[in-house]
Amino acid sequence: IERTLSIIKPDATKRNLTGKINAKFEEAGLRIVAQKRIQLTMDQAGKFYEVHKERPFYGELCEFMASEPVVVQVLEGEGAIAKNREVMGATNPAEADEGTIRKEYALSVGENSVHGSDAPETAAEEISFFFSGLEIVG
Ligand code: GTP
Ligand code: MG
Repeated sequence: IERTLSIIKPDATKRNLTGKINAKFEEAGLRIVAQKRIQLTMDQAGKFYEVHKERPFYGELCEFMASEPVVVQVLEGEGAIAKNREVMGATNPAEADEGTIRKEYALSVGENSVHGSDAPETAAEEISFFFSGLEIVG
């Protein structure tokens, strides 16, 4: 059984969409096996998104992620990484399929409501960035 890291981003926590987004995960068969609401510092956001540090939007992305609380969570299920990305929809909400989280809730390509790990190696790294083993209860 696979696990992936999910983040409900500031644009969504600010609009009180945590429950609606969690319902989408659960309807898709993903189980929330760890979850906490935290305020990222610029430093933590920068570290988390380090892979994007050469991209032109890196500064804006880090400021956004540190602007309001986020909800970080571990989702578990068969093929959880791919399934989560399916439920999230395309990065740009204008290109996201009907019924996806980003289609319904994202405001823009930057303020796109959710993050999800993109591969098994990044999922493992991102989960341990936020959670200890004891905090994950499958
Ligand atoms: P994540 O699950 O958040 O990693 O999204 P993704 O895998 O669909 O997209 P990607 O990893 O390519 O980009 C990471 C994040 O950077 C996106 O989710 C956006 O929040 C942000 N981002 C990507 N492209 C742009 C852009 O052109 N402008 C801005 N402002 N932000 C962007
Ligand atoms: Mg990504």
